[in-house]
Amino acid sequence: MGGQMYSQYSQNLSRLHDTDKIRKLPEASCVGNKIDFSTNDYLCLSRNLAVLEAAMEAGKKYGVGATGSRLLSGNNRLFEEFEEKIAHDKSLESALIFNTGFQANFSVLSSLLDSKVLGEVPVVFFDKLNHASLYQAVLFSGAKLIRYRHNDMQNLAALMEDYANDGRPKFIVTETIFGMDGDVLDIANATSLAKKYNAFLYLDEAHATGVVGHNGYGLSTTISIKNIPHLVMGTFSKALGASGGYITCDLLVREYILNKAPGFIYSTASSPMVIGAASKAWDMVKGFDAERMWLNTLASSLNLALKELGFNTGNSTSHIIPIILQTETAALEMQKKLLDNNIIVSCVRPPTVPPGASRIRIALNIHHTSEDIEKLINVLKTV
Ligand SMILES: Cc1ncc(COP(=O)(O)O)c(C=O)c1O
Repeated sequence: MGGQMYSQYSQNLSRLHDTDKIRKLPEASCVGNKIDFSTNDYLCLSRNLAVLEAAMEAGKKYGVGATGSRLLSGNNRLFEEFEEKIAHDKSLESALIFNTGFQANFSVLSSLLDSKVLGEVPVVFFDKLNHASLYQAVLFSGAKLIRYRHNDMQNLAALMEDYANDGRPKFIVTETIFGMDGDVLDIANATSLAKKYNAFLYLDEAHATGVVGHNGYGLSTTISIKNIPHLVMGTFSKALGASGGYITCDLLVREYILNKAPGFIYSTASSPMVIGAASKAWDMVKGFDAERMWLNTLASSLNLALKELGFNTGNSTSHIIPIILQTETAALEMQKKLLDNNIIVSCVRPPTVPPGASRIRIALNIHHTSEDIEKLINVLKTV
């Protein structure tokens, strides 16, 4: 059964096995009494009682499933009110909700880059460490991809200058807090480059939403981007503890996306229960200033302690701290050693990160304590 095709899939899997690149689901075990540094639930809202109750309430009112795409039977006031809130809190004109962050990035960015609509193949200045969903969008669109050194605004400026006389539409695409490195975009610089070279600024706030910015609503709230073409994307799947993605942008861009993005048009809208939960979590974010300060305190002390132990934590200045190691084996061994000591961390290897930059990814959340950090440090001392 399967014939030639199955044997080719099988060969592909064998190659992954042979090069130790095969992906497997982690054991579906309970965290139990382990300390978990692997979750993106930065504000610990995924099990918050008020958030769970909001999910139930929304479910009772609107159903578990949306029953259709927003353009058909799936629209209701829950989505619309949430979008109004997002736009307001982001100080931008409008918002639109997607089922996942991946779907938002893939569908929205590739729609913005459509060369048939733009009349020319656009040029995309793209941070090398951007998320896979952004890569997929650019590759799918056929746009010219120009990757700049990670979070290096000088390199970006030099490359944009090279293209200063190129009349094609230009885009800058970057995350604001980088999901794998935990470093933070110099948003003022990125914005002024977009302005100078008349480029569309596309920001991904997946890991920034809930964690930084005015009232916690992301880095884009710290700067005005209204006077340049812009779109800010974010997710409900990390600090908000739910799932889904959103974009905030000018009304015109929203209308274009609503008419163009297949991931919006041809997909059943998110479950109202998830949207009810995410909307409640969104409201709660603004009351979490003290928790965000705690996250910063933990992050600074852990980062410092790791540096003192001689570990390379890159340029992280946030709640996401990598320990960058030279080999995949070293990263896997460190993960195992930590797990043996009841500490869960993520091990991230190429192709998710560049070759030679395998790492342990430590994600802090507001329920972590100084004792948790101390335990982590003590085990790492013995590695
Ligand atoms: C930077 C970034 N953008 C987008 C996504 C996709 O979001 P979601 O998990 O909601 O699909 C992720 C997920 O890890 C991410 O890290």
